[in-house]
Amino acid sequence: MNFKTVKIFLTLFGIISLANCTDQATASQTDGVSVLPSNASSEEASEQVGVKRWNSVEQVALGREVFTQNCAVCHGAQAQGIVGDWREKLDDGSFPPPPLNGSAHAWHHPQEVLLRVIDYGGEAMGGKMPAFIDVLEQDEKLAAVAYFQSFWTDEIYQQWMQMGGTN
Ligand code: HEC
Repeated sequence: MNFKTVKIFLTLFGIISLANCTDQATASQTDGVSVLPSNASSEEASEQVGVKRWNSVEQVALGREVFTQNCAVCHGAQAQGIVGDWREKLDDGSFPPPPLNGSAHAWHHPQEVLLRVIDYGGEAMGGKMPAFIDVLEQDEKLAAVAYFQSFWTDEIYQQWMQMGGTN
């Protein structure tokens, strides 16, 4: 029990030390205004404001419930991750659950791949993520994706679209 408490504290410190990264990724979420890179031309800038997403607000709301119940224990309530550095292997050689809020590399994977990870988990690749294929309905999986993507800046979202996104 005590060990668990200590672990939670260490984890919290981990989050705080990562805060510089994650704050940036979530900034646009909290105030609803996207943060533009300072070198963006005004033309680029106007394209970046309020980029249209594939999902609806309702999907994000459902996704919050799905995520809280099924994913938050490993990925953090706001998909911020709960383990220090997602790039560093744990003692057993597996990777910790990465943040999904845009600060790690989930946005490198097109929708199809994200859904495949949720369906089959990471066990086939020597990972620890469980499979959700028999646990969640398709609309719930999509909603979970919509939820963690709601933390992505428009800039990250656009890069994701360029790398495959929903195509
Ligand atoms: C038991 C812990 C655990 C749970 C619960 C869990 N995950 Fe994961 N997840 C991981 C780990 C660990 C990885 C890294 C790959 C691996 O080791 O399997 C991962 C990887 C991912 C990735 C790939 C991220 C990337 O950057 O490539 C996505 C997407 C993902 N999880 C989404 C979810 C969603 C959505 C849920 C809930 C439906 C969920 N996970 C539940 C542990 C978990």
